[in-house]
Amino acid sequence: MTFSKRIEAIKPSATLKAGAKAKELKSKGIPLIDFTVGEPDFNTPDKVKEACKKALDENWTHYAPVQGLPELRQAIGRTCGYAPEEIIIHCGAKHAIYAALQVLINPGDEVVIPAPYWTSYPDQVLLAEGHPVIVPTDDAAHFKITPSQLEKAITPKTKMVILNTPSNPTGACYSGEELKKLGEVCAAKNVWVLSDEIYDKLTYDGFQHVSFGQACPALRDKIIQRADRQDADFTQPGADDDPHVCATGLHRRLFGL
Ligand SMILES: Cc1ncc(COP(=O)(O)O)c(C=O)c1O
Repeated sequence: MTFSKRIEAIKPSATLKAGAKAKELKSKGIPLIDFTVGEPDFNTPDKVKEACKKALDENWTHYAPVQGLPELRQAIGRTCGYAPEEIIIHCGAKHAIYAALQVLINPGDEVVIPAPYWTSYPDQVLLAEGHPVIVPTDDAAHFKITPSQLEKAITPKTKMVILNTPSNPTGACYSGEELKKLGEVCAAKNVWVLSDEIYDKLTYDGFQHVSFGQACPALRDKIIQRADRQDADFTQPGADDDPHVCATGLHRRLFGL
């Protein structure tokens, strides 16, 4: 059997592979603490379960609009300051990132990814036939890309930069001022920003998360941002609709996917 060159270019998710291994070892009774897949250590909260059961009973079981239910987009818009037509609901962050890359990246386009990064970003770029450009960061810079590093990494082929704040795996969080400076570089070079803020509620020691959209409102039409989850307690695999905000022009293409 021959597979597509696109799928041959990527490797399976290292996290899911390690997670499967951890489950296998646990099933053999080997004691271990599993730091692989980022899954909460609590069950789906009762109020979520009840809402799901109620939705089934009320027959909310038919195709929803491609962009997501208007009521849901309106509710999300109220929490993050975006208009419902700027919001699209996906079935998870991984799918949302996949969709954004598929509609924006052409073969050979470069996508800047600061390292250490969440394992799937480069593979998702490869799947879109783009070229991941990895920029190493270090402890001294608190694992954050600096504006001058970003500027040096951008070439005429650069289409996008992927930022992740708070970061998986380092926990690095960009301040509003830091995002603003990175945004100025992106604006000057006319590149898209995919801001993965999936862990926006997981901040510590009084740190206040600032979204890329808040820090760089002028870049609004060049940002795709993973918007606020309603409540960190709802962060359940399979139980979370994943809202993304982005330029309405981009939405029209996303609907077609
Ligand atoms: C930074 C980051 N982005 C995206 C995802 C994917 O999230 P989802 O499970 O909603 O597809 C993960 C999951 O581990 C992640 O760590």
